[in-house]
Parts: sequence; C-alpha cells; structure tokens
Amino acid sequence: MDTMNPIGVFDSGVGGLTVASEIMKQLPNERIIYFGDTARVPYGNKSQKTIIKYSKQIVNFLLEKKVKAIVIACNTASALALDEIKAQVSVPVIGVVEPGAKAAASVTKNNNIGIIGTKGTISSGIYQHLLSKSNPEVSVYGKACPLFVPLVEEGWINDPITFDVARRYLDDFMELDIDTLVLGCTHYPLLRETIDAVLEKRVNLVNPAFETAKTLGQVLVSKGLFSHKLSVNHEFYVSDGVDHFNAFANGILPHYLKDAKEINIDDYSDVISGEMI
Ligand code: DGL
Repeated sequence: MDTMNPIGVFDSGVGGLTVASEIMKQLPNERIIYFGDTARVPYGNKSQKTIIKYSKQIVNFLLEKKVKAIVIACNTASALALDEIKAQVSVPVIGVVEPGAKAAASVTKNNNIGIIGTKGTISSGIYQHLLSKSNPEVSVYGKACPLFVPLVEEGWINDPITFDVARRYLDDFMELDIDTLVLGCTHYPLLRETIDAVLEKRVNLVNPAFETAKTLGQVLVSKGLFSHKLSVNHEFYVSDGVDHFNAFANGILPHYLKDAKEINIDDYSDVISGEMI
C-alpha cells in the first residue's frame, strides 16, 4: 500500500467534517476522501442492522477509491458497526468512540464521567463499556441529546434556544458531580462554547474528533502508512444535498471546499466481498 493513498472518512452527513477538519489540521500531508450519507441521515435513531448495511456500502465505495485507512467519523456508526467492518477489511479502521473514551479515562480526577450522544450511541452502552474496562472505579452517566444535531444543522450554534436546550439536557450532570464530559456525537464539538457555559466551565470537555485524528496519526506511523509528502487534493462525496453540504463544509473546514459530488450509494453492495486495493 502506497503512503500517498488517501484516508477514507465517512459519516451520516455533515457532522463528520469536524473529524475531517481535525485530520487536516493535525495530519496536513494526508489526502482525505470524505463521504457524507446526507440522503439517509440521521443514523442516530436507526437500528444496528441498518447502520451496518449503510456502513458496508460506504466502505465498498471507499475501498474502490484505494484508501489506505478508514475513519468512521460517526459516533453512532462507530458504536454499532466498527467491529463488523474491522473484521472484514485489511486496511486499518478507526472509530471515534475508543479514542474519546481513552482520553476521558485519562483526564478524569474524580472518576465521574458523563457521555452525551445520539440515542443509538448512548443505548449501545459502548462508551460505558470501554470506560469501565479501562478503569473499573469509574462511574459513567450517559444521556442522549437528540435535539443538538438539528440545532447545529440549522446554524443555531450560539443561540439562546440552544442554550436553553443544553441546560435542560445537562442539568442532571451538575448534580452528578461529573468532572469530564465526552462530546460523543460529531456535531457536539461545534456546541462546545454553549456546553461549557451551561456547565459553568467546571467540566473537562473531551472532543473525540481531536482524539481520533491523534490516534489516526499514531496508527499510520505504526503501520508505515504515514505520508511525508504534502497532498491536499481532498475529495468530498455525498448521497444528497450538495449545496447544503458545501455551505456547511466551508463554515468549518480549514481549506476551501470547491464542490462535493453526489453519488448513488445504493449502487454499492452491502457485502464486503474483497478489497479493491
Ligand atoms: N453523525 C452522528 C453521530 O455522530 C450524528 C448525526 C446522526 O444522527 O446521523 O452519532
């Protein structure tokens, strides 16, 4: 596998751009092929069977693009499909959940950790499982915050309505005396300031997007896949709504995105039959 081959990054839509953005900042030599499943978003309330099927179709698309590693930028897909995908492809596959959980376990002082995410991520219990495995002393409190995603997509980032919604969701955490909160959904790092204000700046906020880019760098080095030459021709693909995607992307990415391309993801099989490397 050539070190100049791209990194495949996928998400249910625009949210994974927070992960792509971190990869661009931390690993500027790496070229990204991004797929946002904008036609089938949200993933957060879908069954595991459906998320695995969608993820496999996307992985087949990315393998066709000869990616040298895959980042599942979506927390829900990482929680529900990572193991199955990992078992079926030979390129490294990295999800966002484990890097976020590891960072939370290392940063907590009082062992009270909160997790916020979609219904799928929270009810999977994956963060709770990984955290308890790394430190049996830890108490983990999960809460689904489904309204955060549409608020971010609407662009209501610093809005009084978003502040009120955040207060309603996060109030319990104040009573639970957490000292660390994992922003366990792609969109939540964009609400960091609001969440920090609601929690009166008393809680460490862990951003899995940042931690995942760090982990990706370590994996690329350890597998001899790290690119030493600059290659910035990133490509972006979506399954619907190119204009919304372009506008959102250009609001958060460090590089200007010219044009995402629309593809029909249903043309790709949900069986990973062999790698097109
Ligand atoms: N990308 C999803 C996640 O991180 C949030 C949006 C959705 O529900 O699809 O869980």
